[in-house]
Amino acid sequence: MAGDVTLRDATAGDAARVAQVWESAWRDGHVGHIPDELLVHRTTRSFVDRTPAMLDRTVVAELGGQVVGFVTLSGDELEQLFVDASARGTGVASLLLAEGARRLRAAGATPWLAVVTGNARARRFYEREGWRDAGPFSYEAPIDGGTIPVECHRYEL
Ligand SMILES: CC(C)(COP(=O)(O)OP(=O)(O)OC[C@H]1O[C@@H](n2cnc3c(N)ncnc32)[C@H](O)[C@@H]1OP(=O)(O)O)[C@@H](O)C(=O)NCCC(=O)NCCS
Repeated sequence: MAGDVTLRDATAGDAARVAQVWESAWRDGHVGHIPDELLVHRTTRSFVDRTPAMLDRTVVAELGGQVVGFVTLSGDELEQLFVDASARGTGVASLLLAEGARRLRAAGATPWLAVVTGNARARRFYEREGWRDAGPFSYEAPIDGGTIPVECHRYEL
């Protein structure tokens, strides 16, 4: 179980660790399920560069004094949910998902999220947590100077 997990707002000092968790967990959930063209853009530098701008809408989970996961909100969207491999299966992901949904609802939003179609583990997780598959759509993943379409499913609460 999640044990002594602390959820708190991210700070600027979390940038390096958030970028690290994001990159490795993103690879776990996405490699093999997204266009090769997008993978080329998702360098270590791209995670580091995009992290600071999202920290003020990010909640991190700390376990044993280390950040092991985070959730990022954007408008109505639960935009990012990533948990380090060391903390999967511990309940940290459930806590982050519930906190993200709670904050979205408190702000008057109608929560939704996008999952890459082939990311079966994440999709089972969301369904167990009470989210509903609202069907496939094409997500425009941002890259420098444009976007790349990625096959996703929309989930709603
Ligand atoms: C998706 C994610 C947040 C879910 O968190 P989680 O802690 O893995 O969730 P759960 O504890 O419910 O476990 C999910 C599945 O992994 C299994 N599992 C749990 N711990 C595991 C471990 N240490 N090793 C292998 N499998 C494990 C569970 O049994 C469950 O399997 P099932 O779906 O076949 O029933 C997390 O796996 C993650 O960050 N993945 C990579 C990034 C990602 O895909 N993010 C979502 C983007 S939309």
